[in-house]
Amino acid sequence: MIGMPSREQGITDKVLGYVVDNATPTIVRFVAINPPPLGDYVVIEDRGNNILALVKNVGSRSITLSSLSGVYDPVVVEKLSRNIGTEGNSDVFFECSARLLGNIEDLKMPRIPPLPGSRVRRASSTLLRRIFGGKPPHHIRIGQLLARPEVEVYIDVNKLVTRHTAILAVTGYGKSNTVAVIADSIARIGGTMLIFDFHGEYVSSSIGNGVNVVDPRINPRLLSISELMTLLGVEKRFYNQEYVLRKALEKLYTRQLHKNFFEDLSEELAGILRTSRRREEATAAMAVLNKIESLLDRYRDIIDDTAPDPTTRILAGKVNVVDLSRVDEDAADVVVSHILRVVLHERKMHKSGRESRIRVPILIVLEEAHILAPRDNETLSKYWLSRIAREGRKFGVGLMLVSQRPKNIDPNILSQANNLIVLRIIEPSDQRHIQEASENLSDDLVEQLPSLNTGEAVIVGPFIKIPALVKIDKFPGRLGGSDPDVVGEWLAYKEDMAEPEEETSLYTDFL
Ligand SMILES: Nc1ncnc2c1ncn2[C@@H]1O[C@H](COP(=O)(O)OP(=O)(O)OP(=O)(O)O)[C@@H](O)[C@H]1O
Ligand SMILES: [Mg+2]
Repeated sequence: MIGMPSREQGITDKVLGYVVDNATPTIVRFVAINPPPLGDYVVIEDRGNNILALVKNVGSRSITLSSLSGVYDPVVVEKLSRNIGTEGNSDVFFECSARLLGNIEDLKMPRIPPLPGSRVRRASSTLLRRIFGGKPPHHIRIGQLLARPEVEVYIDVNKLVTRHTAILAVTGYGKSNTVAVIADSIARIGGTMLIFDFHGEYVSSSIGNGVNVVDPRINPRLLSISELMTLLGVEKRFYNQEYVLRKALEKLYTRQLHKNFFEDLSEELAGILRTSRRREEATAAMAVLNKIESLLDRYRDIIDDTAPDPTTRILAGKVNVVDLSRVDEDAADVVVSHILRVVLHERKMHKSGRESRIRVPILIVLEEAHILAPRDNETLSKYWLSRIAREGRKFGVGLMLVSQRPKNIDPNILSQANNLIVLRIIEPSDQRHIQEASENLSDDLVEQLPSLNTGEAVIVGPFIKIPALVKIDKFPGRLGGSDPDVVGEWLAYKEDMAEPEEETSLYTDFL
């Protein structure tokens, strides 16, 4: 119950204007003397109902000019303008349109359009505070309404986790800052998160008074065969290589390790190479041996036969960060898919009452989601991401996808992200892709996306009662990845490099 539809109780402000013709149950047009800001909320009084609406368009009009339609001559307009005057003059009015969001009491949509002539009032901040407000631990603050800085905006934590979220924007407009704001609040309420950090931004951050860094060391003995194949670069089409690898692994798994996993695996492959009668088999064994060598060259510091499973290092009640800044995309794929697979498995174990390493719900953040959940390629992680997107809700595994290239994200995975935080997006193809994946993002909200400034976002989805244009809070703590002071760094370097005057010329000593 949001409130009673009465002005006395402070749900509406002054009358702004009146509904004109052609209203539908979703869109109204109204005229106003004073324009409401774009993205602000109004209340339409219609036959005893008070319907909340979001202003989606505001255009200025002149009575004189509109009665003389077809006057485009600048000289004529200049002459008329002396009578038209400026804002506030009775000749000027504003033609606005607004999207209906529902009755202010229960947010139920009207089934019939408001009547022409219905009064349009500004929604009061008291009403908006009731709609967007909340209290930890069930709600966390994310920012303020763009058009009403006095109204704080909270999101519903349960829905944030269970209904999955996408944070999308062109580069540098505030995605990581949004993650930091959310993660910090989640840490404060004792929640558990796991961030896959591609650029080492979160590792040294002060989110939740310091994060728990999970280093991405991989124990090859704990990997599945397909994870091993990806790590080695043995693609599915190299079926001879897959065959010899499986054969060598079978032998390896039935005996004690002598040295370490890859050295012993190499021994088995060398055995196949020596004894094989088929040329293709010997060639494949040779190729896999070479791949093991190059794997060890590339990843020696993350491969560790004694490393415990990364999921044993995930701490409940903490923001856990997997530092992927040292590994390339293939290795990141192996690490991420392995962790996702085990997290989902452990949560299923927990749900069925069995012993589990992850006993609390967990919110997983995947930065650069277009890399591991790509639209056109297959990755190991993509399989587990789509499993979690589909099944995670039931087992308390939430997904938060972060990307600057929405159109490159797999549409099936993106469409499972019911909550959207979309900051500035310029490219129409990106906008289209997001809209195709989400029924919540209407055209009028998409229209706002190119004009958003840093940290300003369109927020829609089950975790917020009605769509909102929000100025996201700035994370007050330490976070890597802020815009660097390029000129400052150049100047500091120049100063460091400046040699003392007497040494500036090599020839001084000879003169
Ligand atoms: N809500 C905000 N208020 C004020 N400043 C912000 C806000 N959000 C981001 N910024 C600033 O904008 C810059 C870029 O932010 P951020 O790193 O979050 O962008 P990003 O979208 O994650 O970029 P990238 O695509 O490179 O990862 C930072 O300097 C950050 O401090
Ligand atoms: Mg970022």
